[in-house]
Amino acid sequence: MKDKLILKALDGTNSRVPVWLMRQAGRHLPEYRALKEKYTFLELCKTPDVAVEASLQPLRRYDMDGVICFSDILVPLEAMGMKLDFNPGPVFEDPITSIEQFRALELPPIKQNIPHILETLEKLRDELKDTNKTLLGFTGAPYTLASYAIEGKTSKHFEAIKSWSYRAPNELLEILDGLSDLTARYIEAQHEAGAELVQIFDTWAGQLSLEDYRRFALPGTKKIIENSRSKGIPITLYINGGYHLIPGMIEAKPDVISVDWRRSISDYLALIPEEICVQGNLDPAFLFASPQEVKAETKKILEAAKGRKFILNLGHGLLPTTPIDSVKAFVDTALES
Ligand code: CP3
Repeated sequence: MKDKLILKALDGTNSRVPVWLMRQAGRHLPEYRALKEKYTFLELCKTPDVAVEASLQPLRRYDMDGVICFSDILVPLEAMGMKLDFNPGPVFEDPITSIEQFRALELPPIKQNIPHILETLEKLRDELKDTNKTLLGFTGAPYTLASYAIEGKTSKHFEAIKSWSYRAPNELLEILDGLSDLTARYIEAQHEAGAELVQIFDTWAGQLSLEDYRRFALPGTKKIIENSRSKGIPITLYINGGYHLIPGMIEAKPDVISVDWRRSISDYLALIPEEICVQGNLDPAFLFASPQEVKAETKKILEAAKGRKFILNLGHGLLPTTPIDSVKAFVDTALES
């Protein structure tokens, strides 16, 4: 088998810096927009042949080192019986407002309730078998999943989940623990279906103080990572706006910490122990600069990360109107490193 540079970066034996992009599949590609003429977003996620196509589209444009399975972090909540729509942002018809409502939901048998994602991964594993591309799985972290289940949509102030955490903390901890068990099983199933590294997105945990992160978000994340480690599944942990949470992320013991762009990569590297691989961190909006400027800025990141276990990525997902030439300049800079 050819060397998979992303996996090699976990122990620092990679020959050059690997690269992939969060949200590399999707609306910035005209070929994805063409798929969206025929299918809704949820249909795309649930039709394995089409999800495989959406996952591979970015690879035909850019020679990056990872392929992420096309799906969404909210699919498991839908499988629990929560009615979900994308418009284009996610909307749940009946957000959770009481612990009884949560208890009435079923923690789904993954293989039975989410078979399409596992089938997409199996097909991608076949597609990628003679390549050096790493197949990436992903999941939402319990706190971010709970945020959506309770707020019902992307929220500005997170009043519903935050007020719950101070009004009835034990109830919220029960919800988070239930979602942790679901997530741990979901990661195992993805790994069995071919995912070689799984990224946990805790997008909204950045809203928490370090103290509340340790109280509410960390226990579930830690449990999931401990379970994954016992099964030999490497894990990346990402938090948006999470510089102040780095000490907590280190306590979760992931293989990779994925960082946003709000602080320089040097600031992040100074806090994170050398044994942990770091992934990041160009501001996705920087890709609206010229390809030459993108190259120069990316080189600065690579220079600062020299000698460390490192995977080049953005600090958050690619924005839908990003120009293709700049994405190419970003990826090529890693290929030339
Ligand atoms: O290349 C990839 O990364 C594709 C797979 C992927 C999607 N969503 C597809 C998607 C992944 C890894 C995600 C993760 C995801 N989804 C997160 C965590 C990462 C992050 O952004 O912080 C979150 C919070 C969600 C929830 C979600 N899904 C939102 C808030 C939205 C709407 C926002 C937007 O970008 O419009 C989505 C929709 C979504 N998920 C789209 C895609 C391609 C756009 C849907 C469309 O094409 O109409």
